[in-house]
Amino acid sequence: MKLKYLGHSAFYIDSANVKMLIDPFITGNPTSGEHVDHYYNIDYIFVTHGHGDHLGDTVSIGKKSGATVVTNFEIANYLSQFQLNCHGMHIGGRHKFDFGTVKMTPALHGSGIQTDHGMIYGGNPAGFVIEVDGVKIYHAGDTGLTMDMQLLARENIDNALLPIGGNFTMDSEDAQIAVEFIKPKMVVPMHYNTFEIITVNPEDFVAGLPENVSGRIMKSGETIEISL
Ligand code: NI
Ligand code: MN
Repeated sequence: MKLKYLGHSAFYIDSANVKMLIDPFITGNPTSGEHVDHYYNIDYIFVTHGHGDHLGDTVSIGKKSGATVVTNFEIANYLSQFQLNCHGMHIGGRHKFDFGTVKMTPALHGSGIQTDHGMIYGGNPAGFVIEVDGVKIYHAGDTGLTMDMQLLARENIDNALLPIGGNFTMDSEDAQIAVEFIKPKMVVPMHYNTFEIITVNPEDFVAGLPENVSGRIMKSGETIEISL
C-alpha cells in the first residue's frame, strides 16, 4: 500500500484494490504541487470536517470519479445536492467497506461549511481509522489533544497522521503526548507550514518522540510504501 502526501492534511492511498483520498485540499493549497485533474480514478474520498482546507476538491473529484465520499452525516447530507455518492457515518461508528473497516473517531474542532451564502452547519469534526490491505491508518483530522486518544491504543495503529501546526490544532508538544496515548508504530506530521500562522519545524516534533515510534516527515508530493 502506497501513501502519498499532498501537503496540509491531504493524502492519497494507492493499494492494489482501492484508491482513496483523505481531505483532498489540492486547488488553492500552497504546499501542493499537484493538479486536481490528476485524481480522476478514485474510489473513496474521506472528509474529516467541513472546513475548506479539508473539504477541498471533494465535489469536483467526487463528480468526475464517482467516488464514494465518507464523511459525517451532516456533510454527507450537504454534499448530496451535488449528486455525489455519499456514505454518512458518525463518531464512534465502525463500518465494513469492501476494502476493509473504517471507524470514525472524535476530534475537538469545528466543522462549519463555508459557502457563498454564509456558514452551514457541518456536524461534528472527526478523524478516521482506516484499514487497507491489513494496514491501519489513523488520520486525526483537525483536533486538539484529547483524552479520547488513549482509546486508540487499543486499535493497534500502524501509521498515525497527526496535526502539529498549532493555533487551529495540536502543536508539536501536544502531538507528542497524543503519540504517547495512541502508541502507533509510525507517525507522520501534517497540518503545518501551509500558512504562516501554522509555521513549525517538524524536526522538533520528531526529535521528541518515544524511541519505539518512528517519526516520518513527508515532503509534499512524496510517496512511501507501507506494508505489514
Ligand atoms: Ni479545520
Ligand atoms: Mn484545517
